[in-house]
Amino acid sequence: MTLVKVSLVWGTLNLLWSFSRGAPLVCVITKSCILPCSFSSGSDPVLHWIHMTAGDRPVHSFYHNQDQLAYQNQNYRGRTSLFKDQISRGNASLQLREVKVQDEGRYRCYTSTMRGNQEAFVELRVIAPVDEVDLHQVKNTLTCSSGGIYPEPELTWSTSPPSDVAPKDKVSVQQTDQLLYKISSSLILANNTDLNYICTISTPSGSRKATMLKQNSMDVTGNEVTILCVDSNTLKRLTWRFNQDQVILTRTRTEVSVSEEWRQLVKDESKSGSLTLKDFSYDHDGIYSCEWIDAEETLITNIFLRKQGDPEKIKERNIIGAVVGVLVVVLVVLTSVFLYFKISKVKKSNRKNKPEESAGKLNSSEETPQAAESSRDETTQHFNIKDEKEMDYEEE
Ligand SMILES: *[C@@H]1O[C@H](CO)[C@@H](O)[C@H](O)[C@H]1NC(C)=O
Ligand SMILES: *[C@@H]1O[C@H](CO)[C@@H](O)[C@H](O)[C@H]1NC(C)=O
Repeated sequence: MTLVKVSLVWGTLNLLWSFSRGAPLVCVITKSCILPCSFSSGSDPVLHWIHMTAGDRPVHSFYHNQDQLAYQNQNYRGRTSLFKDQISRGNASLQLREVKVQDEGRYRCYTSTMRGNQEAFVELRVIAPVDEVDLHQVKNTLTCSSGGIYPEPELTWSTSPPSDVAPKDKVSVQQTDQLLYKISSSLILANNTDLNYICTISTPSGSRKATMLKQNSMDVTGNEVTILCVDSNTLKRLTWRFNQDQVILTRTRTEVSVSEEWRQLVKDESKSGSLTLKDFSYDHDGIYSCEWIDAEETLITNIFLRKQGDPEKIKERNIIGAVVGVLVVVLVVLTSVFLYFKISKVKKSNRKNKPEESAGKLNSSEETPQAAESSRDETTQHFNIKDEKEMDYEEE
């Protein structure tokens, strides 16, 4: 009974105390922040700003009408200043620049004048909001990640329309030397679904999401094709990729850069994110993704482009193939016939003094009339020409 009473009173006291402390001062990482403090002005003030959890050394001191930084906590070197012109009016506010996570905590503002001493406290919170959420697909694994976040973020997956999605493993959270958090999570994409995947990373101060829209496919009929990204007027950065990891081009508000390999193929691209490719061939079939990053979110679209089989073209290719095949066969036949006659000719000249054997040879070749028939005209002609040439050569 008494215990309950005591804890109730204690709780109430605590509550009153935190009310009196006021809401914490929220400072954004790397930015400047003003820690407020006022006092009853008097002559020759002494001011000390102390970070209560960071040791005895002051963050900033002022007396004898000037800054006194000989004993300053070195973590604050070059990052603090007072509003000198305001001190005489009782304003002891401290400006802190390039805020770090380590600056978090409770600060005491101690002031002393001929009229007495005063103390004021400031509770400083640091936030590093989620800046960009990266969504990256490798094969059927989708990975969502971000970094440079404080305090510890949370990551959630969802789909639209809603479905059961669960990350592959536990969400991974790491803290860097600067006390900032990195977070990532992967999931396996369902097969052939009509789902948009959404990854949301949030901290108490806000959240950001990245969405991968379901894949579309498109048949390319001509040599040129225009594909669209997302249209939004707050573009921060846009990247077109081929088959997930090959960068085609990136665009920021001020710059466009097309990668070397794609320069021949990119005909046009626009601020709204559309991309026009020329000389589109079967080799360029694949997934074209556009990653659109704006002030609020990241959006990824995937379009599967497939050069349509043009029936006329295919027929043409088949005809060409057949012609080439026939030519190859003819060439092989001609070569072998030529070689055959050449060899027999050599044999003949070797046995010039044995004419009866030559005659026998001639007869034996006549024994296979079908083979001779199959390529008669060209072979005979060809043979004649070759024969003449050979004769010329022999004469020389
Ligand atoms: C002190 O002066 C600064 C700079 O002019 C101002 O921003 C701040 O609000 C003042 N603080 C108080 C407590 O008067
Ligand atoms: C998708 O299909 C492949 C094989 O076709 C299978 O191995 C895999 O488990 C399937 N994935 C899901 C999420 O159903």
